[in-house]
Amino acid sequence: MRRITIPRPDDWHVHLRDGAALAAVAPFTARRFGRAIVMPNLRPPITTTEAARAYRHRILAALPPASGFEPLMTLYLTESTTPEEIARAKASGIVHGVKLYPAGATTHSDAGVADVDRTFAALERMAEVGLPLLVHGETPDPAVDPFDREARFLDDVLAPLAARFASLRIVVEHITTRHAVDFVRSARAGVAATITPQHLLHNRGALFAGGLRPHYYCLPVLKREADRCALVEAATGGESRFFLGTDSAPHERATKESACGCAGMFTAHAAIELYAEVFEAAGRLDRLAGFASRFGAEFYGLEPHRETLTLVEAPWTVPDRYAFGDGQLVPYRAGETVRWRIEAESGA
Ligand code: DOR
Ligand code: ZN
Repeated sequence: MRRITIPRPDDWHVHLRDGAALAAVAPFTARRFGRAIVMPNLRPPITTTEAARAYRHRILAALPPASGFEPLMTLYLTESTTPEEIARAKASGIVHGVKLYPAGATTHSDAGVADVDRTFAALERMAEVGLPLLVHGETPDPAVDPFDREARFLDDVLAPLAARFASLRIVVEHITTRHAVDFVRSARAGVAATITPQHLLHNRGALFAGGLRPHYYCLPVLKREADRCALVEAATGGESRFFLGTDSAPHERATKESACGCAGMFTAHAAIELYAEVFEAAGRLDRLAGFASRFGAEFYGLEPHRETLTLVEAPWTVPDRYAFGDGQLVPYRAGETVRWRIEAESGA
């Protein structure tokens, strides 16, 4: 039975929701990760430092007092975000990034940015104070094929933006294509990317395996096998620009199993275990610690954890459902097997 011990990992991109949904999912993340970059796409979105502070308290209140988990808050960038708000966010010490959602690109992105030029004053201040820009990198243009939306956004919007704000630190969130891997690899210093477990484990065939599979639908959508292979190479290659971000995004069962199902896959219940499968299959378990526990912390200017997490190769079956407020949550791989489990955690 194989075992691997790594410094406690962090999740550099997660959706924790709010209210009863938050209480249902936050413990899964806190069990595995020491910290997480928490997405701000609530309704209404988290657009101010004050709202981020209140949300942070609600997250901590949803967890046992001794969890030790640290939520790293983000602001939702709008065309009205002021440089003063950016300065306040940085000074707060609790906000670690600002998220750019192109308006209409994904779940709860309608308050996002239609014209990126109108955010330049905020971006300039972010570059000045050292607050990273976290990007949902897809054009929302319905005329662009859904499978090309990432490439189009990176080339048309993000490349000029990264050049214009040369000291702005940028995370291209949840990259899904070979094109994005190449884009990030060849970008200037200060540009990095997160990669989800589902984009490492599946290609778009999963959406159509024997019928339409709503629980494999997320945005950006799963891509081709060649893209998946490029992502695996990037994640397991020991390159510090690529690090862990699950994009775990829970939705109540009926809103996914629907004529117009929501985008988002819930993976927090097995997140680090799933990455271990990917690194194992690539024969690179030795590089899991860099991807999961070091490179993201380095990018965000934080220390890696001194505590450790031990994973053991001991298959377990994922439940069919978890409780989710008044409803239910269908976890990724419901009723199927995950090969690794958490064996032990140590203190520092
Ligand atoms: O699949 C997704 N779900 N992609 C996103 O960008 C948002 C997320 C959500 O909030 O549900
Ligand atoms: Zn997300």
